[in-house]
Amino acid sequence: MPKILVLHGPNLNLLGLREPSVYGTTSLQEINRSLEEAAKRAGLEIEILQSNHEGDLIHAVHRALGRVDFILINPGALGHYSFALRDALKAINLPAIEIHLSNIYAREEFRHHSVIAPVVLGQISGLGPAGYLLALEAARNWLTTHESNNRTKAYSEKSEMS
Ligand code: DQA
Repeated sequence: MPKILVLHGPNLNLLGLREPSVYGTTSLQEINRSLEEAAKRAGLEIEILQSNHEGDLIHAVHRALGRVDFILINPGALGHYSFALRDALKAINLPAIEIHLSNIYAREEFRHHSVIAPVVLGQISGLGPAGYLLALEAARNWLTTHESNNRTKAYSEKSEMS
C-alpha cells in the first residue's frame, strides 16, 4: 500500500484558535481526521506529524527515505526561509506537494516567496483545509501514473535523472 507522509510545520497545532479570519475554524485534529478517512478510502497508508521545530521536520523528511512514497507538507513560515528544510526535501528526492491554507500571495510581502516551491511537484495555496484533501488526491493520481516509482527505487533512479 503506498504510504503518504503529511508534515505540518510551526504553529499549525493552533489551527482553529489561531487567527480564524485567516486560517478558519477547523482544527488540526479535524484536518488530520479527514485526511485519515480519505486515505483509507483511497487505499493509502498515511503518517502525520506536526512539529514546531525545524530539526524535527528535517529528521522526519530524512526518515521518509525508503519508507514513504509521497510527502504532503505545510511548512508554515519555514516555507518562506528554511533552506535547511528545502535541502532536506531536495536530498531525499521524493515527490512532494507544498500546501498553505491561506493564499500566501495575497498576504504580507514576506509570505509571497516560498523556498520550498522549486523542490516540490507543486503547491496548493489559499484553499483552506480542502487543499490537503486535493493534495492527497493529486498524490494518489501521481502514484498511480508512476507505479514503478516505489519507495526503495525512488532515490537512486531520480538522482540519476537529475
Ligand atoms: C501557512 C502560511 C504561512 O505564511 C504561515 O506562516 C503559516 C501558515 C498557511 O497554511 O497558510 O504558519 O503555511
